[in-house]
Amino acid sequence: MKTWWKEAVGYQIYPRTFYDANGDGIGDLKGITLKLDYLKALGVDLLWIGPFFKSPMDDNGYDVSDYYAVDPIFGTLDDARELIQEAHQRGLRIILDLVLNHTSDEHPWFIEARRNQESEEHSYYIWKKGRINAQGQRIPPTNWSSFFSDSAWCYNEATDEYYMKIFSEKMPDLNWAEPKLRERMMEVARFWLDEGVDGFRVDAVAHLAKDLRFEDSTMPLDAQGNAPDWSKFSNLPALFDYLDELKDQVLRHYDIVTVGEVGGGASPDMALNYADAQTGAFNMVFTFDHCWANGISAGTVSFPEQVKTDVIALKKTFAAWYDGLHERAWLPVYWLNHDHPRVVSQYGDPVHYHKPSAKMLCNTLYLMYGTPFMYNGEEIGMTNVDYTELPDFQDVWVKNLYEGVKDQYPLAVLMDHFRRTSRDNARTPMQWSAAPNAGFSTQTPVSKVNGNYRAINVEAQDQDPDSILNHYRAVLKLRKSAEYKPVFIEGEFALLDEDHPDVFAYRRVNSGKTIFVVSNFTGKDTEYTIPARHVRCLLSSYPDSHPQPPKLILRPFESVVLDVLE
Ligand code: GLC
Ligand code: CA
Repeated sequence: MKTWWKEAVGYQIYPRTFYDANGDGIGDLKGITLKLDYLKALGVDLLWIGPFFKSPMDDNGYDVSDYYAVDPIFGTLDDARELIQEAHQRGLRIILDLVLNHTSDEHPWFIEARRNQESEEHSYYIWKKGRINAQGQRIPPTNWSSFFSDSAWCYNEATDEYYMKIFSEKMPDLNWAEPKLRERMMEVARFWLDEGVDGFRVDAVAHLAKDLRFEDSTMPLDAQGNAPDWSKFSNLPALFDYLDELKDQVLRHYDIVTVGEVGGGASPDMALNYADAQTGAFNMVFTFDHCWANGISAGTVSFPEQVKTDVIALKKTFAAWYDGLHERAWLPVYWLNHDHPRVVSQYGDPVHYHKPSAKMLCNTLYLMYGTPFMYNGEEIGMTNVDYTELPDFQDVWVKNLYEGVKDQYPLAVLMDHFRRTSRDNARTPMQWSAAPNAGFSTQTPVSKVNGNYRAINVEAQDQDPDSILNHYRAVLKLRKSAEYKPVFIEGEFALLDEDHPDVFAYRRVNSGKTIFVVSNFTGKDTEYTIPARHVRCLLSSYPDSHPQPPKLILRPFESVVLDVLE
């Protein structure tokens, strides 16, 4: 079965820092509309727009206080309608971030729920009595950690109960075991589909069902004294009943695409429960498995010497997901999103080999099997932040982690950790030009621009035929060309030399065409032999590649795309 979303190229927009149309320092929906022509010319056609619903912005909009209203900082409902319409006119589809797991604590439901134990709204959330420890102090009902480095519970004075919150305190988890709540959330989904959106990225969906036995985890406690035991609220059986209901009542009635965020806990086998082509509720799921293949992750403080890309693990991860899914489910591929560091800083070398390493990463991902999703700024090689002051970091996760570990590590170590891993890295203003504030806004932006915007920006790269931006355009053009589309969309995928420690090489094959993508993931020259003698080099991360197969001498971060002629 061919479906439009298999051929699509996704592009994720973080509204807060994409483009500010009204000059208040915050990105907005009108700003996105103004950049649609840019996106069209880039070659993407499926826009995933991060949450823009009414929100106190504790977690930049993932804490929703009204699903039916656009937050005033982003614009109005009419701006959303205009954006959808203008996108459709250009042949661009739009998917929204559907946040089902929690609301804001400022959502009217929660305001009522925390005040009145007898209310229907109270049943929309998850409540438990606290415990008293040996010292006579009140402690949470379980020792579970939240994802944001503190307890998964928060005390509510008015009812003398704890509510569950697996993200921040201001994001109480919804009780999906309650049918009335499920109906409320299905109404939300229907509302936006009826507004004409083309589907959803379904936020944090792996966590809708919780282990209702509420027993302490036996896992070792973390620095903050909690057990980071995600199994207590990830991929649990009841979740799939909720999703079946969502599919049956809502999703299957529309021609849409749905991508569930299942995070790091789900294996390819587990992913089939969500996205099996016949039985799954979603068309595909995002995993995080490939995001931290250089030994650093945001939740645990790491040191520079621990940072080395494990190329073997990285490519085997992609292959495992392909092998596990491709005959039974579709899959997305991506390097980063708003929750991860910038990929050129993570797996490339922005200091010594900015251009070739960014282009190498582009070749490697965008010619793989699956629907690719680009993250705004990736196409110009935006890098991790250069922040030197702690308050420059705004992410609630950074703040919680800092509070938990500040007595254990020197500030310099923590700053270094945040510059490498924090979610703020991906959330700096989009670098449109060398003008003040990177051309993002006429006002001081809501989050600090990266100091390298004068060198790295859209305007400069647009003009330069050798730029990262023009390389992205060329790769997408090749992927979509009539000649190569069949091999890149449907063609089978196989790693070459999967145990080679430095080179990520793979083959795509379909109806008479064979393509090799060969990428040197290191900053040193590397020799690599391919099983072919006659090739045409379609693209390279260097302007002057002349591969002489079978033996290739790859320069630092050199990556070639070869059409095999024999
Ligand atoms: C997802 C989002 C992340 C958010 C969390 C809670 O993981 O991608 O940004 O903080 O869900 O909604
Ligand atoms: Ca604005």
